[in-house]
Amino acid sequence: MVSNHRLLSKHNFDPHMLGSIVRLAPGRYSLNEPTASRTLYGHGTKFEKSSFYFAFGSPFPEGSDLFNERSVAIHSGKRRRVAQLYSMSALLSYEQYVDRQNAVLCEKLRSISTSRSQIHVYKLMQAYAFDVIGEITVGESFGFMQKDYDDLGILHAIHDGSVYGARVGLLGNLHFYAGLLVRRLKIAIPFTAVLAFINKNIELRRTGQQTSDRADFLSKLLQLKQAEKIEDVDVITTLGANIAAGSDTTAISLSSIIRYLQLNPECLTRLRAEMDDRLVQSKLSNPVKYQEAIEMPYLQAVIKEAIRLHPATGQPLSRVVPAGGATVAGRYFPAGVNSLSSTNSFAKRADTRPVCCRYQSMGTASQP
Ligand code: HEM
Repeated sequence: MVSNHRLLSKHNFDPHMLGSIVRLAPGRYSLNEPTASRTLYGHGTKFEKSSFYFAFGSPFPEGSDLFNERSVAIHSGKRRRVAQLYSMSALLSYEQYVDRQNAVLCEKLRSISTSRSQIHVYKLMQAYAFDVIGEITVGESFGFMQKDYDDLGILHAIHDGSVYGARVGLLGNLHFYAGLLVRRLKIAIPFTAVLAFINKNIELRRTGQQTSDRADFLSKLLQLKQAEKIEDVDVITTLGANIAAGSDTTAISLSSIIRYLQLNPECLTRLRAEMDDRLVQSKLSNPVKYQEAIEMPYLQAVIKEAIRLHPATGQPLSRVVPAGGATVAGRYFPAGVNSLSSTNSFAKRADTRPVCCRYQSMGTASQP
C-alpha cells in the first residue's frame, strides 16, 4: 500500500482525480467499480489469476497451492478437497483455541500498561496473529507474543517471500527458471523456514511424538490423507497457505482498526458505548464470542471501514480476461488482457448515500 501511494505521489497523481477505470500499463487495468468484484472473483468465475500470483508459491505445477494456482479448474479441484476445513462450522470449532491466545494478548497488554512501556502495535498484532494461526493450523502457537522474538525466522521468511513475489511476479515465468536454478544449486530459499516448521509438525504428529485431541487443520488434513482424498503435498501446501496468507493479513487488518480508532476518538467512544450497552444487557461474554460480535453493528462497521481504508493486500488482485473477451464495469476488454483488478489499495470509493441508507444496507435500520 505504501509503495502504491508513493508511486502516485511521485507521478503527481491525485487518486481522487482518477476515473473508475485506470490503465496502469499496457494490458493492465485497475477498476474502481464494486460491480466488477463479483464478475472477476465470484463463484464460477472464468477469470484466472494472473501470472503475478505464480511467484508467491512453488514454481512447479505439482507444488502449487490455493493461493498461487492460476488454472480455474485445478484451483476448484484443490479447493473442493479442503473446503470443509474452512466452513463456518469448522471455523467456529477453532474459537476456543483463538481464545487461548486472546488470554495471552490481554495479559501482555496488562503488563505493558502496568509498566507504562511503549507499545509497537503492528509488531504485537503480528505476533498475536501468528500465534492464533499456529494454534488453529498445527495445534500450538508459535509463542511469539510470550517470547517477543521470532526464533524460527518465520516472520522474516514470509516477508522476504512476499518481497520476492511482488517483484518477480511482474516478470511472468522468471519464477519458474529461478526455481530450476534453486533446485539445481540447492540454494536455501526464504520459505525454507516455514517448510521446516510444517514438516517438523507433520512428522511429530505422524510418529505420535506429538498428540492432539483437537480437530486442528493438521489433524483434519492427515485424516483426509489417510482416507486417500488428498496427497502429501496438499497437506503441506494447505498448512503453508494458512501461515503465509492468514497471518500478516490479520495483523494488518487489526492494526488498521486500532489506528483508525485512535485517529477518530468519536468512533472509539461510540464503539465503547456499544460494548457497554451489550455488557449491561448481558449480551457479551468474556472472552466475547464470534456470535455476539457479529450482532454488534457498530463494531462490524468499524472493522469493515478500517479494512476498506487500509486493505491488507497491497497489490491489485489481478485476473486475466478469458477467451472471447468480457464486459466488466460496463466496458469491453479483449481476451488476454492480463491484469484486470477490481480492487487495489489506493482506489477508495466514497459512499455518497445518506448515512441512514448505509445503515439500512447493513440491516440495522433502527440506527440513527
Ligand atoms: C483479515 C484477515 C484476512 C484478510 C484481509 C484476507 C484477505 C484475503 C484476500 C483478499 C484473498 C484473495 C486473494 C486473491 O484471490 O487475489 C485471500 C485468499 C486467501 N486467504 Fe485470506 N485473508 C485474511 C485471513 C486469512 C486467514 C486467517 C487464513 C487462513 C487461516 C487465510 C487464508 C487464505 C487462503 C488459503 C487464500 C487463498 C484462497 C483461494 O484462492 O482459494 N486468510 N485472503
